[in-house]
Amino acid sequence: MVSGKFLGKDYRKFLEYNVGEATITILEYKGKGYYMVQEPKLESDAQETYNILIDYLYKSLKPLYTEKDPIGYIEGVLEEVAEELGVKEKYEKYYDILHYYILRDLIGYGKIDVPMKDPRVEELAVEGPGIPVAIVHRDVSEYPWLDTNIYFNSEEELRAYVQKLALRSGKHISTAYPILETRLPEGHRAALTLSKEVSGRGSSFVIRKFPEQPLTITHLLTLNTLSPLEAAYLWLIVEAQGLIFIIGAMASGKTTLLQSLTTLIPPDSRVITVEDTPELRLPHEHWDPLYTRRSYNPAEKWMSIDLHTLVKFAWRRRAEYIIVGEVRGEEVQVLVQASASGHGGLTTLHADTVDSMMVRLMSPPLNVKHSFLTLIWCIAVMKRLRDIRTHRIIRRLTSIYELEVEGNRIKPIEIFSWNPQLDKHLPENPYDVYEKSFRLKTLAKRYGISDEEVIVELQTRKEFLEKLVKEDIFDYDNVALRLFEFYSIKRHGDVFERDKS
Ligand SMILES: Nc1ncnc2c1ncn2[C@@H]1O[C@H](COP(=O)(O)OP(=O)(O)OP(=O)(O)O)[C@@H](O)[C@H]1O
Ligand SMILES: [Mg+2]
Repeated sequence: MVSGKFLGKDYRKFLEYNVGEATITILEYKGKGYYMVQEPKLESDAQETYNILIDYLYKSLKPLYTEKDPIGYIEGVLEEVAEELGVKEKYEKYYDILHYYILRDLIGYGKIDVPMKDPRVEELAVEGPGIPVAIVHRDVSEYPWLDTNIYFNSEEELRAYVQKLALRSGKHISTAYPILETRLPEGHRAALTLSKEVSGRGSSFVIRKFPEQPLTITHLLTLNTLSPLEAAYLWLIVEAQGLIFIIGAMASGKTTLLQSLTTLIPPDSRVITVEDTPELRLPHEHWDPLYTRRSYNPAEKWMSIDLHTLVKFAWRRRAEYIIVGEVRGEEVQVLVQASASGHGGLTTLHADTVDSMMVRLMSPPLNVKHSFLTLIWCIAVMKRLRDIRTHRIIRRLTSIYELEVEGNRIKPIEIFSWNPQLDKHLPENPYDVYEKSFRLKTLAKRYGISDEEVIVELQTRKEFLEKLVKEDIFDYDNVALRLFEFYSIKRHGDVFERDKS
């Protein structure tokens, strides 16, 4: 049984699987979804030994981050410590369970270690003590959040945990400045609060997990987030160094789409990425990642290095592509200008629609001049939706727009759109795409190639991506390898021979 709470009650089990030695059961009870964790049981005798050992280890262990192999180190000292503390016999008797809990609590994430290790968990949140830790599950999206059977029992416990998370990310959180946005060593994004200073229900945290394997373009095609023809269109624009904006609401999948498009950049390019929190990873040899540095201490404000400074700096560092993880301020002007001077550019922006994006771009603090908007080659709109048939959460690239100038007005032209009834991205024919797209026509002119040749390029890339899906090429390294191969085969007859001077 999963939890005493549901014993004998009417619940519906969705899914059961193991994460290491723990068992996860996902169930529905009274219309609510639950993620129940069952870990190996620590009997009272073993619990006592655990308490003795962990107490000593907390106090005496040297900082584990100085160790190359912390697990090996702990395993190495445990026996000695058990002997020293006079619990060797019990230690040997409960060897497996003690190792499980000691490693979970010293090296892992303690109480939330199982969901942190579960690759199907996307996000974790807790609003205060006594409130269940909630998670977002990749495969059970009928419920936006699933409650777990994991609780922080008191404010003291949660507060100590939040401080530990801060420390683990190399930062500090205190009542003097009780909020912290940070990144855990594995790349997970964490937003923490301490005590009730600013968060009504006590210390709290939200962790957006960094996927061990990023979703690749082939994953997104299989999920029908976008169509192979849309991917082919975006690929041509990426290769021609156009400026692409990906817009959408919170957690709509903007960064994931951006990540998948970066693998389409020609392999020999120098690519600079600029981010607040490192989320992107590129397979390019000449990838130059830049990250902002924040200082919360007003006296050390001068030490902060913001996105605007870094994007200006990136421009001077000579690269074919500048990618900004997310634009929020005047750095967008630099990106747009960099695009005008021939750099390829990709970025994401929080906005629901193209119209609200244009308003946001032209208002403070972004302040992009109206005439500069035409430098944006295309806008991809991401949406997180509930599938009317299955009630599951799906993510779709619902439209791709180009911006056309009509007199004094800038008019968004919808090149692709998603049909929710059919769950299809239209058009499905490269001729129709070419017909609508003024960017592709400009591209043909720029490279002195015929309309037909651009259409053939669209079709070739569409088929190439479909072939990757058919061959089950999903893994990040393999996808990158196959795309790089595509370029090396094509090199001799490159239609978009780029000016590399
Ligand atoms: N197309 C997709 N299909 C399924 N899951 C996805 C898809 N895109 C993203 N996800 C998952 O959704 C979560 C949010 O994705 P992502 O970080 O890309 O969103 P975002 O729009 O950039 O969010 P934010 O607004 O917070 O920056 C991640 O856990 C990611 O793995
Ligand atoms: Mg994002």
